Formats: sequence, structure tokens, C-alpha cells
Amino acid sequence: MTRKFRSQAWFGGESKDSFIHRSWMKNGGLPDEAFDGRPVIGICNTFSELTPCNAHFRELVEHVKRGVIEAGGVPFEFPVFSCGESNLRPTAMLFRNLASMDVEEAIRGNPIDAVVLMAGCDKTTPSLLMGAASCDLPTIVLSGGPMLNGNYRGRDIGSGTDVWRFSEDVRAGIMSRADFIAAEDAMSRSPGHCMTMGTASTMASMVEALGMALPGNAAWPAVDARRQRLAHAVGRRAVGIAHEDLRPSHILTRAAFANAIRVNAAIGGSTNAVIHLLAIAGRVGVDLGLDDWDAFGRGVPTIVDLMPSGRFLMEDFCYAGGLPAVMKALGDLLDGSAPTITGRTVAENVAPAENFDPEVIRPLDAPLIAEGGIAVLRGNLAPDGAVIKPSAASPELMRHRGRAVVFTSIEDYKARIDSPELAIDETSVMVLQNCGPKGYPGMAEVGNMALPQRLLAKGVRDLVRISDARMSGTAFGTVVLHVAPEAATGGPLALVRDGDMIELDVPARRLHLDVPEATLAARRAAWQAPAPTMSGGYVSLYVDHVLQADRGADLDFLVGCRGHAVPRESH
Ligand code: FES
Repeated sequence: MTRKFRSQAWFGGESKDSFIHRSWMKNGGLPDEAFDGRPVIGICNTFSELTPCNAHFRELVEHVKRGVIEAGGVPFEFPVFSCGESNLRPTAMLFRNLASMDVEEAIRGNPIDAVVLMAGCDKTTPSLLMGAASCDLPTIVLSGGPMLNGNYRGRDIGSGTDVWRFSEDVRAGIMSRADFIAAEDAMSRSPGHCMTMGTASTMASMVEALGMALPGNAAWPAVDARRQRLAHAVGRRAVGIAHEDLRPSHILTRAAFANAIRVNAAIGGSTNAVIHLLAIAGRVGVDLGLDDWDAFGRGVPTIVDLMPSGRFLMEDFCYAGGLPAVMKALGDLLDGSAPTITGRTVAENVAPAENFDPEVIRPLDAPLIAEGGIAVLRGNLAPDGAVIKPSAASPELMRHRGRAVVFTSIEDYKARIDSPELAIDETSVMVLQNCGPKGYPGMAEVGNMALPQRLLAKGVRDLVRISDARMSGTAFGTVVLHVAPEAATGGPLALVRDGDMIELDVPARRLHLDVPEATLAARRAAWQAPAPTMSGGYVSLYVDHVLQADRGADLDFLVGCRGHAVPRESH
């Protein structure tokens, strides 16, 4: 053994306490060698049948365990709260921080020396990494992999992205209900998570770009045997990082976050990555701010031609060479000397990568979009910032001045969007209030409000939309998100009224409400906080402590690393 492991505080010695710790574990048939000082690898599993993106994890975990045992470790799998995006209401994001607490306390309180984080669906990746980062035990991430490409009537269709398109086609009267249901059958046809470059694929790419996952983690399909081989390799490597004491704080440096932000620009990644990486950085004490997203990502082209920004899907991305090929193509735009979980640097990891399909992963000098990345907007409408993903927006709307059409809640929007009385045309700016972290609560993915039926029927497919909400990573449009401070706390977004002129200037990074300050002051004085839609239990804790979007929407008392000192004995 290379060092005395933390788990020996439970399993070592001959005391009454060590008797208890070992004896109860032996009821599973473990041999004496399991307690002889070899590293214990906790496998944090987000399997749930209610999280369909992670429902194959019961099989995948067996490959991790084989790898652990083969390398001389002892694997113990444990469940944590699984935040499934497709089912959880009011939004999975409300529970990301709760799940991170579960992960953090489960790791710290148990005889664990290193951790494998099994994540897939959107929020499962950040929640696990946030919790593990606050413990700072050796940690490696294994993503579950994307679904195979959807296929509807001979053409590829993408998770989420084509749902928005189909549903607009139904509302515009150019797709039948029967065809809509047939497309539903054709979209999710294998285990795995969303196979567009939505939030799940983005976060799987982010952990690989940060150096917290093995090369290839982002793209192997869930059902590809190479995903299982990767799981085996992760198990083996988990034992290695336990011996080396290679911890998140060694890898998650500011340089690693800068690399990840640039990779996010190159892949046309989700705006949700902004919030999640800010929260993860907060857990490890890295000074990362909203403006770093603009500064690091500016000038990085989007070279991956995947939906929602482009044409292809994760399966195509995998066969083209996956994230290592992208990171190799980025060359000096990345800090190649950054350390990673493999024990090698970023540059060493990606050196063998090849691009097998320059249609899917384009060359840097012939990108999909010259200016990728996330633009951070500021102005009197968003003093603490807002974001937009230019690669998913309409170029002709990137500079726009239009009259506000205001909805005070998502229910208000649903009730009135197709009303003949609604004064809206193709120049309007749709504004949605009270959908931020405290207001929704949980900052729902409702920012990409669908357009009114009568504009869709006229062929209009995009309007400027502004909110304090988030947007699904699979969605697209000229959608300004994460406005901070949010409306429910009395931020300027709460003061917008129908007919106000709003100016969006993405090249100048400006978001301006063109209303005299005296008028705004009068509205501010008359403003009343909306009545809460939920209260009690965890929701009350969340609403009282959640930070705004520009701080990653973490709970204030969870920011920081609390370490992994062995807690006091319980018996
Ligand atoms: Fe789980 Fe999209 S719903 S990844």
C-alpha cells in the first residue's frame, strides 16, 4: 500500500468500532482482504427509473466495479438523489443544490478514499461534481453517454431541438398530431442522455475539458461497448488517483475553467454550463466570474456542427473523433499544460486525437460560427449581467430595438400568448418575469418562450426574448437569459411594462431599457414582491439562501470546500 487510507479509520484496528464497521459490511460476503488497507472506491450512482437518461447505470456500474477490483481497490456503490430533467417539477434545477448536499455528506460520512461520479442527465453532472468538490477527495467523473441519433422517417432528429421545431410546426398547422406522436416514438430510441449538444452533452464535455474525466468521456454512445470499456478504465483509474491523492483542487484551477469555457464556445455548448461552472468554481474556491465567460470565450469559433447550433448529433460527433479532436484542434487557445485526472496534461491527453469528419468537426479556419461562446450582456436592465448564446440566435436580431410584451409568469404567458388581443408583431421583444432562482423557484428552463401562433403562421421563427429564466441547452433563438438581479427580488426586469422600448446590442454587450429613470423610480417604489408559488420544506431553505445566476445559483452556505476530515465516531 502506498499510504494509509482514510477508510482505515473505519476498517482498521481491533476496537469495538472497527468490529462494527467490518462485521456489518461482511454481511455482503466480503473477504478479510477488503479491509486490509487497500483503497475503498465509492461509486456515486444516479441510477433512477425516473431519470431515463441514467436508467442504464445499473449495468454500467458493473464495469466500473470490475475495473476497481482489477486494480486492487474495493468498490462500494451508493445511490444519491437523481435530478432527472424530463420529469422533475417544478424544475430539476431546484434540486441540483439539494443533490449536491446529498453527495457531499455521503462521501464525507462514509469510509471512502476516492470517488467515481456516475452522471448523465443535465443536473446530475453539476450536482455530483459540486458535492465532491466540497469534499475534495480524489474524484473522477464517468458520464453515461448520449442516446443514439433519433431517426424519424429516414432523417436524424435531435433530443429537444426537434421537439421545439415539431411543436411550432403543429402550432403553425404544418404538422399533424399523429405525425407529432410518431416523431415522439422515433426520438428516444436507446438508453442514454439527450444526443444534441444540449446541457447533458455539454456538461459531459465540460468535465472532460476540465480534466475531471477520461478522454472520450463526452461522446461514446451509451450503448457502445466503448462506453463500457471506458467505465472499466474509470474504475481502474479511481484506484490510481486514490494512491496518488489526486484531488479536484489539484485539477480544477482557473486555467482548467478557462479551458472549459473555450471548449464550450468551440462545441456550441449550453448556456446552462455558465451557471454550473460558476457554482463548481465556487465550491473549490476558484475566482471565476460571469465576465470570465465573455473574456475567455471571445474569439473562439464554434467548430462543432451539432444541434441546436448546427446539423449533426452526438453519435456523429463521436465517430468524428469526439472532444479530444476538438481540443487538439483548439491548440494554443487552450492551456495544454493543465493537469488532468489521467496524470497527464491536456496536451498529452489529446495528442493522439484525429478528426475523421471535418463536416462535423470543422477546421478552425472554416468554422460553423466565427464568434462562438457566450456573450455576457449588461445595462440598466441587467446590472449584474445576462447571457445570450449567439451561435443559437438569429444574426439579424443581434442588434434590435423593439417594444416589450410583458408576461408576469409562465402561466400568464401560456394564458395570453395566442390571444387575439395580445399586441405583438415581428419587431416585439417578449419579456418574461419571475422565473429566476427565487421567483420560480429554481430558475426554470422557460426562457425560450414559443412564439404566438399567428406569427408562426406568417413564417416568423424568432423574436428577441428576455427573462430571468434559463433555457434548455437543446433550444435555440435570440434568447436573453439569466437576467440578474431577477424580477422576484425587485430587479429592473420587474419594472418593465408593455410598450417600453428595449435595446439589445450583442456586439456591444448591451441590454438597455429605454425608460426615464424617474419613471423607473416610481415603478420601483410601487413594486410588490410576487406571492410565492411554493413554500415550506426544502423550498423555503432554497429560496432563503439561493444566490443569483451570476453567482451560479448555489446556496450561499454551500459555497466553498469543507474538506474530508474523518467525522467523529457514532457508536
Ligand atoms: Fe436527461 Fe436531456 S432529459 S439529458
